[in-house]
Amino acid sequence: MTHDPTRAAPPFPGGQFPGGPDREVKIRFGVDSDGPGIIALIWACWSAYPNITMDVDGELPQLRALGSYYADKGGTLWIAEADVKIVGLIAVWPMDDVTWEICQVYVDPALHGSGLGHALLDQAERLAIAADAERLVLWSDTRFDRAHRFYEKRSYVRQGPVRVLGDISNSLEFGYAKPVNGLVLLDIAAANAAETRLADILVACVEAGAGVSFLPPLPREKATAFWHRMASDVGAGTRVLLAVWRDGVMVGTGMLDLAMAENQPHRAEVQKVLVHPLARRSGVGREVMQALERSALAAGRTLLTLDTRAGDAGEALYRGQGWQEAGRIPGYALDAAGVPHDTVFFWKGLGL
Ligand SMILES: CC(C)(COP(=O)(O)OP(=O)(O)OC[C@H]1O[C@@H](n2cnc3c(N)ncnc32)[C@H](O)[C@@H]1OP(=O)(O)O)[C@@H](O)C(=O)NCCC(=O)NCCS
Repeated sequence: MTHDPTRAAPPFPGGQFPGGPDREVKIRFGVDSDGPGIIALIWACWSAYPNITMDVDGELPQLRALGSYYADKGGTLWIAEADVKIVGLIAVWPMDDVTWEICQVYVDPALHGSGLGHALLDQAERLAIAADAERLVLWSDTRFDRAHRFYEKRSYVRQGPVRVLGDISNSLEFGYAKPVNGLVLLDIAAANAAETRLADILVACVEAGAGVSFLPPLPREKATAFWHRMASDVGAGTRVLLAVWRDGVMVGTGMLDLAMAENQPHRAEVQKVLVHPLARRSGVGREVMQALERSALAAGRTLLTLDTRAGDAGEALYRGQGWQEAGRIPGYALDAAGVPHDTVFFWKGLGL
């Protein structure tokens, strides 16, 4: 679609944001006269990292008129201001009909951890999604580790090769991306970046009573360590890991274990089909299962197996997707209260 600038009308609720005990942060559209404050903010962020220098006139002249720069690209720039000081920045623009780039994500170091970054990113993502963006992308200097944690918490995953800017700071940048609604087969870089959000999903599912090997309360570190091991299997080529997004938030996942015995090269095991409790009954689980079947076939696997706690939602999901019950083992696993539950084993033949 063509970008309609009238849709860029401010969607934020009054531009108010509490930024500290005794001051108020306002979010407003950026204008060209913000140049000096923008440059000061970016430098305050960059100078926290070693070996980064700034040559505005030689490399970044657009910073002196950033409002016009993004308006000319069909995008929007926002500024967060506290006591006339610029303390936050974000921009978003349409790269094509479906892909919008998030840029210039900067928050004054004094306000790190205040939630201002989330408020700014909400602003930019809301605009892009309202304008029918299907994919959101961004680039982040490989040295900005704090920013990476922030993007990963916000459901972005690494995408593509590292970009070489060839500037005076020798900048290298990670690409990050996420679909607004959709599914991605995670490669090793994306799987590694997804660990934080996948841990959120696993912890929430276990907390809600899912019978998926863990017992509540599941510490985040344990959940993250689990996904780190899974990412390593993805890197080794022994596992397929996918994730599903709704409204820009990663809400579901599922895996195929490909590491079968040498006499079962045609089999794979479906594991950890998880949908965040807040996103259930909207077709995410079905989307995960159908994609796992396609991935299995692509990997030359024609027999799938899995097991699930009897009577759970998973049992209904699998039966609805044409899986056959192979049998049931009584008292196979305990729930959080120590009560034993039966487990049902299922199988499905593909392309047979
Ligand atoms: C099982 C799970 C993945 C289903 O995810 P979901 O996104 O809610 O499933 P969908 O919305 O795609 O449901 C598809 C179909 O499955 C069946 N289904 C799903 N949840 C169900 C439930 N709670 N009760 C009855 N049927 C259910 C329905 O037939 C549904 O179709 P419908 O909504 O058109 O009636 C989710 O409940 C979950 O994460 N549970 C905890 C983890 C778990 O136990 N995973 C299985 C491990 S092997």
